[in-house]
Amino acid sequence: MITGTNSADHAAPIIVPTPDGAYPIFVGAGLLAQVASLMAELNSTTRQATGLNSVANKEAFSPRCALITNPRVGALYAARVVASLHANHFEPHVIEIPEGEKYKMLDTVRAIYGQLIDAQLDRRSLIFALGGGVVGDVAGFVAATFLRGVPFVQLPTTLLAMVDASIGGKVAVDHPHGKNLIGAFKQPHAVIADTDALATLPDVEFRAGMAEVVKHAIIGDAGLFRWLESGGWKLEVGDWLVRAIRVKVDIVARDPFEQSERAKLNLGHTFGHTLEKLSSYSMRHGDTVAIGLVCATHLAARLKMCDASLVTRVSGLLRALELPTCVPIEMSADAILDAMSTDKKRVNGRLRFVLPRVPGDVVMVDDVTREDVLAAIDESR
Ligand SMILES: NC(=O)c1ccc[n+]([C@@H]2O[C@H](COP(=O)([O-])OP(=O)(O)OC[C@H]3O[C@@H](n4cnc5c(N)ncnc54)[C@H](O)[C@@H]3O)[C@@H](O)[C@H]2O)c1
Repeated sequence: MITGTNSADHAAPIIVPTPDGAYPIFVGAGLLAQVASLMAELNSTTRQATGLNSVANKEAFSPRCALITNPRVGALYAARVVASLHANHFEPHVIEIPEGEKYKMLDTVRAIYGQLIDAQLDRRSLIFALGGGVVGDVAGFVAATFLRGVPFVQLPTTLLAMVDASIGGKVAVDHPHGKNLIGAFKQPHAVIADTDALATLPDVEFRAGMAEVVKHAIIGDAGLFRWLESGGWKLEVGDWLVRAIRVKVDIVARDPFEQSERAKLNLGHTFGHTLEKLSSYSMRHGDTVAIGLVCATHLAARLKMCDASLVTRVSGLLRALELPTCVPIEMSADAILDAMSTDKKRVNGRLRFVLPRVPGDVVMVDDVTREDVLAAIDESR
């Protein structure tokens, strides 16, 4: 059994309380080369920071473990994680899944199970997910179900995965009838976000992650929003990433199973998902979230929930980040509203919208009239 003794050089982790205990999120440069020593630290970190017994306290890990990644991310970063694990007496088995959302499906999961069985992993074997949200979701779903659940560590390498997908314990694969329809709640043992990985991220993926950073600022951190407006995001990744992560952490800690407040994280997504679907997924997720944030702000302004100047501020920030802010002219407001009405985010047959009041404060409403939604869409062109 691996218990480890090394300690690593990094800032104090963010601790996420969960129904079973807690897990740490480590954020910093160079952390992928320290994965195994961070795992060794894990027990004491979560115990000291929370006073809770984390799941990890109750068990040591088997030497045999799996590192799930894709060819692109694996070529860039798997070697340093593997070296760190070897140096700490782990025996990692590297599994590559094909690149892309279209492989976030049960066939991929089934292929991984076979490899885990062949590699003789047991219930104390760790699964490491090295990649963006697709790898994290697939590997997390495998970890939730293989041998009725094995411990799992997220190593997010996209901004979106660092700020959003790796946190909160939702894991899922897609079904031909829709995205993320087959899933589970599976809390990670740890999230280790190495900001160095962002250096190789394509610009378009970085911007997609920034759409979620802006979303988090609007939901829960007015200071972060102002700081982003002043161009702070052009500076080195660091504090702003941690602040954006904290917004999600605070919400999922209060609502781990998505029964109430967590719906706030859907800000911009009710509109955004619909645009994505109507474009047959040719529009990028980050782009549709950005446009969705503008639509939600227009709707809030119409309903006099926020000052009209917030529309200008939100669109201005998104434009500065080179994200789109206008609903495509070819999509009629009626078509968008009709498609939205089949979205799984309806509550008791009503559409629920998350609307900003001021930066850092949002409210959920489900009594918006059809006319107001149509008008808000048309104002967002
Ligand atoms: N579980 C959740 O709570 C949650 C939340 C939000 C999104 N998601 C899911 O996340 C997925 C989207 O995640 P994503 O935006 O990270 O996309 P992704 O995982 O598809 O990664 C985007 C692209 O970047 C590449 N890449 C990743 N890291 C890189 C790096 N450091 N350098 C160079 N290239 C790199 C990937 O290979 C891929 O081509 C969707 O499937 C979505 O449903 C899940």
